[in-house]
Amino acid sequence: MKEKILVTGGTGYIGSHTVVELQNAGYEVIIIDNLSNSNADVVDNIEKVSGIRPAFEKLDCLDYNGLDALFTKYPGIKAIIHFAASKAVGESVEKPLLYYRNNLVSLINILELMPKHGVEGIVFSSSCTVYGQPDILPVTEEAPIKKAESPYGNTKQINEEIIRDTVASGAPINAILLRYFNPIGAHPTALLGELPNGVPQNLIPYLTQTAIGIREKLSVFGDDYNTPDGSCIRDFINVVDLAKAHVVAIGRILEKKQKEKVEVFNIGTGRGLSVLELIHAFEKATGVKLNYQIVGRRAGDIEKVWANPDKANNELGWKAEVGIEDTLLSAWKWQQKLKEKLP
Ligand code: UD1
Repeated sequence: MKEKILVTGGTGYIGSHTVVELQNAGYEVIIIDNLSNSNADVVDNIEKVSGIRPAFEKLDCLDYNGLDALFTKYPGIKAIIHFAASKAVGESVEKPLLYYRNNLVSLINILELMPKHGVEGIVFSSSCTVYGQPDILPVTEEAPIKKAESPYGNTKQINEEIIRDTVASGAPINAILLRYFNPIGAHPTALLGELPNGVPQNLIPYLTQTAIGIREKLSVFGDDYNTPDGSCIRDFINVVDLAKAHVVAIGRILEKKQKEKVEVFNIGTGRGLSVLELIHAFEKATGVKLNYQIVGRRAGDIEKVWANPDKANNELGWKAEVGIEDTLLSAWKWQQKLKEKLP
């Protein structure tokens, strides 16, 4: 068994896939999650997929003393992957203080406790949202950070700064910031996937819920953008590929291969796909015809963004592998599995 890794938000969408990949790579995983947007049953499914039951504690990262006690209970944690955060863009506009408290204080608590308990490294979930609408595409890690469009996006920017400032102050911490593009899909076993709360705000859960009949129609937000077909362009990254990037990042930190104490990597495919292209790819992959209509633009949307993943490909040695059709099929299988569970 390799080192002990703490995964905050480990029962969530990206967290659960990452736990499985860490276990597949031989790491011992401890999950904490406050279950605000996930379910403890996910731990059972992680065990079904990997064959190993991870340790799980229901804990909120805002609970400083609880975190302190956790590190004492599980001595020898070498690194942390910090997923736990609030992530709904719209909600963050309505409840900014909730977002600032949850997302910033959680990270501050973790960074304060790391040196005390000898934890060397942290991998942080950041987002391509820090680039806003990039001037040059595909966007590299050197692109300027643009003013955030939402409190959620701002917490990602501020948290990157908090990590940089903490490391610069001399704290014995090494960090990798992963800037995710648009994570989609589910585990190929259909045992893990995204569990949206209420009406989905993101494209894929809304799309698969429409395809299965829970929603009547998918609205495509705008076809008058400056793109070939007029709809927005994104870099859709398979969630298992994304999970594997975390495993590589952890290895890089623990094997002391970093060139700087804080490194940042774009995690995307390098390929931009429009919303309409994605819909057609879904129809092709699944054979299901989708009911959709073009409506007006959604406030705050970026016109087009896709990654230059060269740095992750070359320095991290990570590359997106799963094709878009397999990714969309996995999302569809997951949606069908969710329907089976409905009463
Ligand atoms: C958003 C956030 C991003 C966050 C991500 C995951 C912004 C600018 N970005 O990404 O920071 O990490 O969610 O929570 O807020 N669309 C439709 N119909 C729908 C839903 C979406 O046409 O019903 C379109 C959107 O207009 C957009 C694309 O699909 O062009 C992707 O939308 P979405 O899945 O919400 O992700 P982002 O907005 O790219």
